[in-house]
Amino acid sequence: MIDRPTPVEGPAAWLGSRIDYRKEGMHVLSAEEIAEIDAALAHLRAFGEMDFPDITPEAFPLPTFGGFMRRLGDELRLGRGFLLLRGLPREHYALDDLGRIYYGLGAHLGQPVAQSYFGELLGHVIDVSDVEADARGYHKGGSQRMHSDNCDVVSLMCVRAAVSGGISRIVSAAAVHNRLFEERPDLLEALYGEYVFRRMERDAEFGSGYLTKRVVIFSRESGQLTCNVSGSYPHRAVRAGDAVMTPLQAEALDEMARISTSPELYLDMDIAEGDIQFLNNRTILHGRTGYEDRADIGERRHMMRLWLRMPVWPPLPANQGMQDPGEYKLWLRQRTPLMEVPSRYFAEMARQKAELAA
Ligand SMILES: [Fe+2]
Repeated sequence: MIDRPTPVEGPAAWLGSRIDYRKEGMHVLSAEEIAEIDAALAHLRAFGEMDFPDITPEAFPLPTFGGFMRRLGDELRLGRGFLLLRGLPREHYALDDLGRIYYGLGAHLGQPVAQSYFGELLGHVIDVSDVEADARGYHKGGSQRMHSDNCDVVSLMCVRAAVSGGISRIVSAAAVHNRLFEERPDLLEALYGEYVFRRMERDAEFGSGYLTKRVVIFSRESGQLTCNVSGSYPHRAVRAGDAVMTPLQAEALDEMARISTSPELYLDMDIAEGDIQFLNNRTILHGRTGYEDRADIGERRHMMRLWLRMPVWPPLPANQGMQDPGEYKLWLRQRTPLMEVPSRYFAEMARQKAELAA
């Protein structure tokens, strides 16, 4: 715990209602950049069907645009913390190639890591709750409360938009922090203290075993404000009897959630088909609005997701990350080659659905 929280200054403390992301947080790919991406895809495909861990910057070479992707890491850490990459002509690519391009771009920015005990390196954010028993948040439909994931950079590529809704909503953790500083410094101080988080049982079982961890929601230890507020983990700990939350701690979480959803603070981003969003997961919380979907799995709203580690960034304070970095490798033991290839994923979902119906 620090002695006394102070307001955060700098570009990370933005108010959504005062910025236009199209002017201040969007890069539209030029014809030359798209040509470079196409050449990288052709290079990659010459190797045959390459599995995701082998899609490295060398296998997906971007002689010029690779520099942009590497610099983006600094921009995400030191600037506002978000970027929307627009202009990839979605309709020009087969679905599986879109996955390869997305992963290849991500590999130029950071190190893709497993997103759960399933070991998937490329996640599919889609409502398959009618197929998967105990579907997790990213495999369910509906809205999502503001939260953070467990990685340095979280990214989404929109493959298929919803019929309506499903807008990506983000908020600056620093802006939420500063609002608490002004209105409820007592609650802010509580958020610098430790909460007990309880992660998903299987993530623990297939990882290094521990289920609960003491985590601070705000920290300044890395030299800048970092935030980890998983939507359900602190409440899961209380429900399971791992911890008792003081009334002040509970109020602090509620107030943080309320401020995060204030229209003055949040920013709604329309991620259109082919767009890629990159967020600094340490400094930005994300959620989404509810949406109307289609019945057929192959037609549903579908985003691909990357979780990236940024080895060049200062390490996250030990009492803030839920997973220690070694965890991702343990989860990879569950992974089977090429399982994230979109067409294979959809075939697997269709198989499971047919099995359920039989
Ligand atoms: Fe998330």
